[in-house]
Amino acid sequence: MRLFLGSDFHVDYRQNLDWLRGLSRADFTDDVLIVAGDLSDELDLVKASFDELVPRYAKLLFLPGNHDLWTARSGKGPSFEKFETLNALCRDYGIETGSLALGQTLIVPLLAWYDYSFGEPGPTIRRGWMDFYKCNWEGLAPAEVAARFDAMNVIPDTSGYATVYSVSHFVPRIDLMPARYPEKHKALFPVLGTNRLEARIRALGASKHFYGHSHLNRNKEIDGVTYINNAFGYPSETEISAKTILHVADL
Ligand SMILES: [Fe+2]
Ligand SMILES: [Fe+2]
Repeated sequence: MRLFLGSDFHVDYRQNLDWLRGLSRADFTDDVLIVAGDLSDELDLVKASFDELVPRYAKLLFLPGNHDLWTARSGKGPSFEKFETLNALCRDYGIETGSLALGQTLIVPLLAWYDYSFGEPGPTIRRGWMDFYKCNWEGLAPAEVAARFDAMNVIPDTSGYATVYSVSHFVPRIDLMPARYPEKHKALFPVLGTNRLEARIRALGASKHFYGHSHLNRNKEIDGVTYINNAFGYPSETEISAKTILHVADL
């Protein structure tokens, strides 16, 4: 059994959904796929993605990204309600949203939101970051949303497992972004993730952490943890994303 990782499929782009539709129906039937968020804000497109992926893999694990929690196109209700809707949808499809034990390996999804622990956003981000318009957090500030998601994390007992892997949509530490990065992109750092994730990863004793959101593919070891990003990304992002589902471990 192999473990595969993908995130940020953003299937609002027809070619991204078509790519999923072209995946082999025979090659992955004994394998597990982690989808680390950002399928689509449109529930019907999330379902269309699940319809493609669920029959191809032995098991799927999904956790939502910021785009999945947008409600502007889907009833404008609270984003925490959308989160529950997505969880219920996963239950219907038999998709795991909690910790997944596979033999001696435990995979732990970590819910999060950015809380500006990577820096305070400047005026361009405050004006232009779409989550501020598309999500409905009922007046909560990002740090309060981050605290709510962190409190929802069910941290399992990892004793008895030889290997622990963790997964998040958001970036767990800002030094995963290249130091030499264009200044205009560095403006995004405050909304990339949270230090809370790094604390969770270390407390779990995870040896690998899978994440998405930055759309910047990485495989970097820091202090004994290998951090892997395999975001599919937007069609225009041909240089920073590999446009594939990545084999990240054998189970
Ligand atoms: Fe994304
Ligand atoms: Fe994202």
